[in-house]
Amino acid sequence: MYIYPRATLHLLHLHSTKMMMNCLQCWPEPVIRVQHLSETGLTRIPERYVKKPSDRPHFLDSIDTEVNINIPVIDVQELLSDDMSLRRKTAALIKDACREWGFFQVVNHGVRQELMERTRDVWRQFFELPMEEKQKYANTPRTYEGYGSRVGVEKGIKLDWCDYFFLHYLPLGMRDQTKWPSFPLSCRELVGEYSKEVVKVGEKMMKILSSNLGLEEEYLQEAFGGEEMSACMRINYYPKCPQPELTLGLSPHSDPGGLTLLLPDENVSGLQVRHRHRWLTVTPIPNAFIVNLGDQLQVVSNGNYKSVEHRVIVNSVKERVSLALFYNPKGDILMKPAEQLVTKDHPPLYPPMTFDEYRLYIRTRGPSGKSQVDSLLTFHQ
Ligand code: OGA
Ligand code: NI
Repeated sequence: MYIYPRATLHLLHLHSTKMMMNCLQCWPEPVIRVQHLSETGLTRIPERYVKKPSDRPHFLDSIDTEVNINIPVIDVQELLSDDMSLRRKTAALIKDACREWGFFQVVNHGVRQELMERTRDVWRQFFELPMEEKQKYANTPRTYEGYGSRVGVEKGIKLDWCDYFFLHYLPLGMRDQTKWPSFPLSCRELVGEYSKEVVKVGEKMMKILSSNLGLEEEYLQEAFGGEEMSACMRINYYPKCPQPELTLGLSPHSDPGGLTLLLPDENVSGLQVRHRHRWLTVTPIPNAFIVNLGDQLQVVSNGNYKSVEHRVIVNSVKERVSLALFYNPKGDILMKPAEQLVTKDHPPLYPPMTFDEYRLYIRTRGPSGKSQVDSLLTFHQ
């Protein structure tokens, strides 16, 4: 049994929670909608979006022999098979995918194709609404809920070529449907139905991820607060970009929470996953969800699982829409390595910290690779 010192925000090089909350009240600069910029027909992108040369996508890099590699595709229906060896085989495939990639696609997940398509369409329609309509939902960095165009409140940071809509689905106490678009008319209803179904897929994945660690099936869910776990959605809209080689739709980051279930654009690819020091573009399988592991699973699994860095590239021909559902822990419980995974040879790698505290980092600094979870590694007992 280890005694952990309580992690403090100091560890993350942030000054104090109070100061943080103050700077999260409003954006430090006027918000510019990327979609608006794109629609003005400009031929050069503003300096704020131009990444430094080492951070730019290198399109030439992907022209090589590995271009056909894709992340694993897993038929999760097989987890329910009567055939025990098939169940075991599928669980083992997930285990390998977690270890090797931290990313995989799931098919036969039980969410109706028609529901997936309608929800994606309704969001596409939302972004096509006149700007005044969308502005009614403009967000602030305090909760991030609503229509947004940046992550991070530090003045002068480089921006990504993306607008988004962020909303809370769970816990019920955080769900405020008046903050969800009332137009298109079916939006609120579809978001509710879609999230409910995708959360169910998340629940099933959590069980497998738990048993694959040698833990009780319910362990991870319990660690996430059981029924009080949280879930939120981020709908990303990546407008066309006249100079895609200079910028990114979303800078490299690992997702701060538990699991992400992403419904990508059916026509346009853009998500890239870091795999063995190179960026690999994911080819979406029709009707699949792209699943990836976030930092909290790295923490609870004491580093057995790794959250993997990913980013999004944009293009000059077609806009892209994606729906990310984040399956996260309850905000105010302490997340720490599972005792069963802590031994003399494997001491705890991460100090206990609540997800609310943890999330402040990305909300302040914006996406910054794996620097946050890695900074926790400096922890020693
Ligand atoms: C995210 C994300 C990828 C995509 O929203 O965290 O990584 O393809 N999105 O939009
Ligand atoms: Ni992400």
